[in-house]
Amino acid sequence: MAVADELRVKKIREGTVIDHINAGTALSVLRILGLMEKGDYVVTIAMNVQSKKLGRKDIVKVEERALNAEEADKIALIAPQATINIIRDYSVVAKQRTKLPQVIRGIVKCDNLSCISNSSEPIQPTFFVEREDPLRIRCYYCNRIMDKEDVLRQF
Ligand code: CTP
Ligand code: ZN
Repeated sequence: MAVADELRVKKIREGTVIDHINAGTALSVLRILGLMEKGDYVVTIAMNVQSKKLGRKDIVKVEERALNAEEADKIALIAPQATINIIRDYSVVAKQRTKLPQVIRGIVKCDNLSCISNSSEPIQPTFFVEREDPLRIRCYYCNRIMDKEDVLRQF
C-alpha cells in the first residue's frame, strides 16, 4: 500500500482487517456481519482506495474483534478477493484469503418463495456453490440459481 493510503486509515492495535474488498462492497460487508447497528466495536471503513491488485478496493477494520468461520464464509460470498488479517499488538499475525465451502447452510435464503426452505418446515436453507467468482449458487431443495446481486439484496 502506498504511504498516502497508510496515513489515510490508521493502523489498529488489535482486531481484524478485511482487505481487498471489491470496491463498493464495504457497506454490504458490514451489513452481512451485523456491524451496521450501534454496538461495542470500533469500525473504520476506507472506500475506493488505490490497490495494485484490484484497481480500487475497500477496507474494513474491526477493532478488538475476531471473525468466526461463518463470518468468513459470509465475506467470501460477497467479496471473493478479500483477505482477512488478524492484528495483534499492531502486527499482522495471520493472513487468510477467503474461501467458500462447497455447501452453504443457513446464511442465504432461497429467492424462490415456494421453496420448501421458505415453508414453515424447520429446514435450513442450503446451497451448493457452483462458482465462486462471479458467484453462482444453487438451492439444494429447488435448484434455484442465485448470483451475488441476489445475495446482496438480502443484506
Ligand atoms: N493493518 C492495520 N493495522 C495494523 C497492521 C496492518 O490496519 N496494525 C492493515 C494494513 O493497512 C493493510 C492490512 O492490514 O490494509 C494488511 O497489512 P499488511 O499485510 O501489512 O499489508 P500488505 O502487505 O499490503 O498486505 P497484502 O500483501 O495482503 O496486500
Ligand atoms: Zn430453493
